[in-house]
Amino acid sequence: MTPVLELVDLEVRYGSVPALRGISLVVERGEIVTLLGANGAGKTTTLRTISGLHRAHSGSIRFNGRPIQALAAHDVVGVGVGHVPEGRRIFPRMNVLENLEMGAYRRRGELKDDLERIFRLFPVLGERRRQDGGTLSGGEQQMLAIGRAMMSHPDVLLLDEPSMGLAPLVVKAIFSIIDQIRADGTTILLVEQNATQALQLADRGYVLENGDIVMSGPASQILGDQRIRAAYLGEGAAS
Ligand SMILES: Nc1ncnc2c1ncn2[C@@H]1O[C@H](COP(=O)(O)OP(=O)(O)OP(=O)(O)O)[C@@H](O)[C@H]1O
Ligand SMILES: [Mg+2]
Repeated sequence: MTPVLELVDLEVRYGSVPALRGISLVVERGEIVTLLGANGAGKTTTLRTISGLHRAHSGSIRFNGRPIQALAAHDVVGVGVGHVPEGRRIFPRMNVLENLEMGAYRRRGELKDDLERIFRLFPVLGERRRQDGGTLSGGEQQMLAIGRAMMSHPDVLLLDEPSMGLAPLVVKAIFSIIDQIRADGTTILLVEQNATQALQLADRGYVLENGDIVMSGPASQILGDQRIRAAYLGEGAAS
């Protein structure tokens, strides 16, 4: 079966400084795959390059077998890649409904069913539909950012550190919603520093170090790896 998303020898530079040194990665339909790594490893760069927000220096990005690395960012959304950016980036002066509608800007017609679907996943967003995005709690803003990306009906959802800055109970809620989104048929590529929880949720994982993938495999195998435990899952890990 053709993977839904495939990176082959992807190299990205900022000026002459390499950020990704030729990484290869596969996401199969229906999976949750997590991409782990310390600050500055290249996780955000990977997602932004998939989304067409950065250009690769070399290598390829295939979506359902089709090269997409030359597409403009809005066309990448159009083919079925949703991106929930690091730091959420919701529109603070727009209310919840308006934020969600922005996620559907490429579509015409009735959004009612889509909004209902989002409000089923995130009841709190339905309750607060008229509240400005900027006045939502951190967890609610994260839900809004995920909901906004879901409005474009992505085949694959790229999530950049959805747990960042959130209390443990809220993180648990967000992770369980991610699992629900996958169960509803959306494939997930999840970037996290919260490695233990991400690996408990994911099917497989990749570990990035300095722009290189240094380990990949079933999530349970990475969770059990001594070296990875010391580097990312120990008490001293960055959070
Ligand atoms: N716009 C940019 N210009 C120059 N260098 C950049 C730019 N964006 C990122 N970098 C550099 O590329 C490397 C990878 O950054 P990236 O943001 O992808 O890391 P990350 O794994 O997402 O880190 P974090 O966990 O802190 O979010 C870092 O060394 C960073 O300083
Ligand atoms: Mg990042």
